[in-house]
Amino acid sequence: MATALILGIESSCDETAAAVVENGRNVLSNVISTQIKIHQKYGGVVPEIASRKHLEAVSTVIEEALGEANVTFGDLDAIAVTYAPGLVGALLVGVSSAKALAYSLNKPLVGVHHIRAHICANYIEHKDLEPPFVCLVASGGHSHIILAEDYTKYKILGQTRDDAAGEAFDKVARVLGLGYPGGPKIDKEAKNGNPDFAAFKQVSFGKDSFDFSFSGIKTGVINYLHNLEQKGETYNRADIAASFQKSVVEVLAKNLIGAAKKYGVDKIAIAGGVAANSALRAELEKRKDNLKLYYPSPIFCTDNAAMVGCCGYYEFLNGNFKDLTLNAIPYLNV
Ligand code: KG4
Ligand code: ZN
Repeated sequence: MATALILGIESSCDETAAAVVENGRNVLSNVISTQIKIHQKYGGVVPEIASRKHLEAVSTVIEEALGEANVTFGDLDAIAVTYAPGLVGALLVGVSSAKALAYSLNKPLVGVHHIRAHICANYIEHKDLEPPFVCLVASGGHSHIILAEDYTKYKILGQTRDDAAGEAFDKVARVLGLGYPGGPKIDKEAKNGNPDFAAFKQVSFGKDSFDFSFSGIKTGVINYLHNLEQKGETYNRADIAASFQKSVVEVLAKNLIGAAKKYGVDKIAIAGGVAANSALRAELEKRKDNLKLYYPSPIFCTDNAAMVGCCGYYEFLNGNFKDLTLNAIPYLNV
């Protein structure tokens, strides 16, 4: 097949990103402009600020992605953009830019679902990976167990009924005074702590359900700390971080493996910011049995546009094009 060059654009949260991807799996450039430093002082992403910062960065990021890949706008075969789900004002910046490019260059426009893109991040470094496989997508906004039946066909097998896993990491990090974003900070802190110091109770919805609940674990940590404070007792932050992390990671691993076994799939993958967690990776290695485990490098776990270019390629091959009425959608099923 002839080479297809896709420009991916991502702006659903606090990363403005653009990448050029060849034939879905060969990343020629991957440019990310992060707003983390700006949102850090508020302890989380401020949507209005995120939109403005995307607007300031988007053109430069796209130009850099083309420059690094050594291609011109004319070389591109399609423009792929994340259009759902995410912060609507943030998404709109990427969507508007992609529409303007597609219109002015007279190139096809491809709409990419952010969760599908996270799953596709696994294809980039694992050239042998092909569907079907079951993927855990855990990030600041989502916690899903998804069956990737085909490159463009997905089925949700389980999801969180309250907080996302990453959200719980971020909130617990905040009460521990570790700052934002909490996931990487808890991951690091937990390395010096005892995971069996405290048992934060997990919620299970029965053996046939792969749904999650993380708000109970989060509240468990908050109540535990309150209790200690009231009694005037001190605690080791690393022990709390390690115990919290253990509780979350165990349930993520259990549901992913349980779903793969139930659906008779021999490959599992992880994706999204929480997939960068070292304890989750270790837990899955320990539990995986005969299942083949895939995960992306940390740079492809958190938000990036290479995964959008990859996912966009498969939508492109499938003829899933959008016209200029494409809009940003804050919530959308995968
Ligand atoms: O995928 P992502 O960049 O953005 C969303 O789509 O939400 O994920 C960000 C989330 C944050 O909640 C962050 O704390 C979490 O991923 N995260 C981690 C780690 N690195 C990022 N959580 C646990 N351990 C990590 N190492
Ligand atoms: Zn994401």
